[in-house]
Amino acid sequence: MAAESSAFRGAILYFRDDPGSASAADSHVYLEDGLLVVEDGHVVRAGPAEALLASLPKGTPVTDRRGLLLMPGFVDAHVHYAQTDVIASGGGTLLDWLERHIFPEEMRFAERAHASEVADFFLDELLRHGTTTALVFGSVHRASADAFFEAAGKRRMRLGAGQVMMDRHCPEGLRDTPESAHRDAHELIERWDGQGRLHYAITPRFAITSSDEQLRRAGELARAHPNAFVHSHLAENVAEVEWVRRLFPAARSYLDVYERFGLLRERAIYAHCIHLDAEDRRRMAQTGAAAAFCPTSNLFLGSGLFDIEATDAAHMRFALATDVGAGTSFSLLQTMQDAYKVAQQKGQSLSALRAFYLATLGGARALRLEDRIGSFEPGREADFIVLDPAATPLMERRMRTAKTLEERLFAWMILGDERAVRETYVLGKPASTSARAAARSH
Ligand code: GUN
Ligand code: ZN
Repeated sequence: MAAESSAFRGAILYFRDDPGSASAADSHVYLEDGLLVVEDGHVVRAGPAEALLASLPKGTPVTDRRGLLLMPGFVDAHVHYAQTDVIASGGGTLLDWLERHIFPEEMRFAERAHASEVADFFLDELLRHGTTTALVFGSVHRASADAFFEAAGKRRMRLGAGQVMMDRHCPEGLRDTPESAHRDAHELIERWDGQGRLHYAITPRFAITSSDEQLRRAGELARAHPNAFVHSHLAENVAEVEWVRRLFPAARSYLDVYERFGLLRERAIYAHCIHLDAEDRRRMAQTGAAAAFCPTSNLFLGSGLFDIEATDAAHMRFALATDVGAGTSFSLLQTMQDAYKVAQQKGQSLSALRAFYLATLGGARALRLEDRIGSFEPGREADFIVLDPAATPLMERRMRTAKTLEERLFAWMILGDERAVRETYVLGKPASTSARAAARSH
């Protein structure tokens, strides 16, 4: 069969390196009038439109998006699909919020039909917000993982997810056992890990809700399946850290609990990582584990302020994440905005260029998927979004005086949300179109 080619013309931005560490000029590629050439769902190349148009095979359809910005799809490094329906449930901090809002909600995912309905909504919502890859918590029920992977497979998105392990300090209806969790995870890995674009994530909820035996078995799985993700929470809240200290008196720190059980390695992603010390950060960097910085969640639950400078000083990888339902938006643009504000509160800085890096190539690197997604280098999977600089009257007005790329990105990050995401493409095919774009095409 002949290869299926297509091309997309517009401004183009993608990253080659972290603007926080590389010299700014080398970190990214920006083309005012660019062309993204796609074949069979993969990037052939991105370059100047004038030059590339002439070299396109005859008959290649060119989609004209001049005036808009094409960039790789966003990566959300930590989010809970089973909490979609309790986003914006307020009051209290982490531990009482879990008891009051989250555990009762997650009980509903014992039922497969409910899990499937939420998974479909959740994934369409990710796409509508420009997110094409995410690392996702389910609930403790096996049905929650099967339903999710089925919905994800239909959309051909690159996603990691897993059934949550929790065998103590939670309601009876949400409790598994070390044996059942191990068996379920093993079977789910066999069934789903590496199927199409899907990845399994070994998902102990956090040290409080897993016994030593459960963590030990999770570590065994992590060793036996090095390509699967490890996905958990770490050092989010002061009361949580204190409880972990009492539960594991022999451990040097909260992080050390996970390390002792073999849960620190590449493709291990820990949400929050706020209350860490220098040794913890050093161990994360050395083992290749990565942090998911969840600013909207951390502000919502009053958990604390992520320390970007200390993370950089330790050479730790980190990504951005929404952490819905504690997070308050599925939008990585809104997440960047709150990341900027957290940095401000710490007396630190986060440039718009770096925020967009973190939401794309930085996220891909944290998940160790940078050879597949996160940029427009030749051969990458063609997951991309089309950003609108005039999504609202105020944005349109502000963009008129934003002269440089950095100024325009800054306006998108501070004023933007899903309204700025005109279209989302998965493997070169339209996967979501905003109401505004749809209305215009009629
Ligand atoms: N720690 C353990 N479980 C959770 C959860 O569901 N959300 C957040 N934000 N933190 C957690
Ligand atoms: Zn979380």
